[in-house]
Amino acid sequence: MDGNGRWAKNRDKPRHVGHEAGLKTLTKIIKHIFNYRISHFSVYAFSSENWLRPQSEVKNLLMLFEKAIDDNFTFLIENKICFHLLGNISKFPKSLQKKIEDLTNQTRQYNKLHFYLAANYGSREELLSASNNLKMQQKKITESIFKNAFYVSNLPDVDLLIRTGGETRLSNFLLWQSAYAELYFTKVLWPDFNKKNLDNALNFFNKKVRKFGKIT
Ligand code: IPE
Ligand code: MG
Repeated sequence: MDGNGRWAKNRDKPRHVGHEAGLKTLTKIIKHIFNYRISHFSVYAFSSENWLRPQSEVKNLLMLFEKAIDDNFTFLIENKICFHLLGNISKFPKSLQKKIEDLTNQTRQYNKLHFYLAANYGSREELLSASNNLKMQQKKITESIFKNAFYVSNLPDVDLLIRTGGETRLSNFLLWQSAYAELYFTKVLWPDFNKKNLDNALNFFNKKVRKFGKIT
């Protein structure tokens, strides 16, 4: 979800205004996701490298996460959405950790949609931590054993990866899981991303013939 800062700058507003607008977009897009046969939806909200931003911006983003959980708790429960935090939450304030744990526990039994919020997520860190957790294991590490050691073991491979904001890189997001993902880059800044833009991305995906290395 890239482009919040530029969206605010274009309006002569401070960056936090862009992040707030980005959150509104996310709540709208989740509602559209229900219209499609999508069972797993992940968003990259905060990378492990985003700690390097000015402290005031980091603090503001962490506060926004808490607000996002407070404001959307009921929505997630009512719509039977299973919430997963993807990342290492140990660096987050205790109050945020508690909210994440409560939401995870209270939506655990749902499966209408699996929603993954990647926060303090870095793919390299995830792969390294899985390797370190498994290194004492005697038996041969298979793909399924390896995947089980990821932050969230049941996250399926990425089918479609959308990056807004015009950059054409993965920025350490789900590198293993995106091995066969269709990559869709759009210049639209995240706060402006709407149903039409989502439709365009899904149409792009639907036209793809996915061969996974085979001929047909
Ligand atoms: C993405 O928007 C949101 C987060 C990483 C939290 P940016 O904050 O990266 O927006 P730009 O790239 O400065 O426009
Ligand atoms: Mg950015």
